[in-house]
Amino acid sequence: MPSREFLTHSSEETIRLGRELAAQLHPPTLLYLDGELGAGKTTLAKGIISGLGVAREEDVTSPTFTLVHVFRNGVKVFHVDLYRVADRHDLETLGLEDLFAEPAIVLVEWPDRMKLRTDWPVVQVHLEHGEEDTRRIRVCDLAGPEASGLVSL
Ligand SMILES: Nc1ncnc2c1ncn2[C@@H]1O[C@H](COP(=O)(O)OP(=O)(O)OP(=O)(O)O)[C@@H](O)[C@H]1O
Ligand SMILES: [Mg+2]
Repeated sequence: MPSREFLTHSSEETIRLGRELAAQLHPPTLLYLDGELGAGKTTLAKGIISGLGVAREEDVTSPTFTLVHVFRNGVKVFHVDLYRVADRHDLETLGLEDLFAEPAIVLVEWPDRMKLRTDWPVVQVHLEHGEEDTRRIRVCDLAGPEASGLVSL
């Protein structure tokens, strides 16, 4: 399980890291963005989604209230925030069963809130607060069957 660790010192650096990660992502991929409030999940998503070329950085905002934002420009990208998802019914009313209908890049904030099943390759990203504006960002690539054994969403 290859794992890489990065330290960033500003939101701009985290966005830059997201752009670099985007260059290594190919659909279908499920990306878990895990970490406490304000750890930088949405900030990293800004870098990834703009890096994938489907939206401008400023158009990538927190989906905390809408739960899902969909972007498309050749590649289809879902940005999901499960923080407020109470149960599976919420997911169904949002049409999230379509999430895995076609190869896409699916970014999920607060992945521990709800179990989703897929055999897609998974990239697990864990973000932690450090001193002041420092964030420790660990990226772990998990292969399909290995991922479904290790990670539950
Ligand atoms: N190195 C850094 N990387 C990312 N964000 C940083 C960094 N330093 C400071 N920040 C600030 O921390 C905040 C991170 O907010 P962000 O919305 O990305 O967090 P989040 O993990 O998505 O939170 P939530 O759990 O509420 O969704 C922003 O205000 C950002 O400017
Ligand atoms: Mg967020």
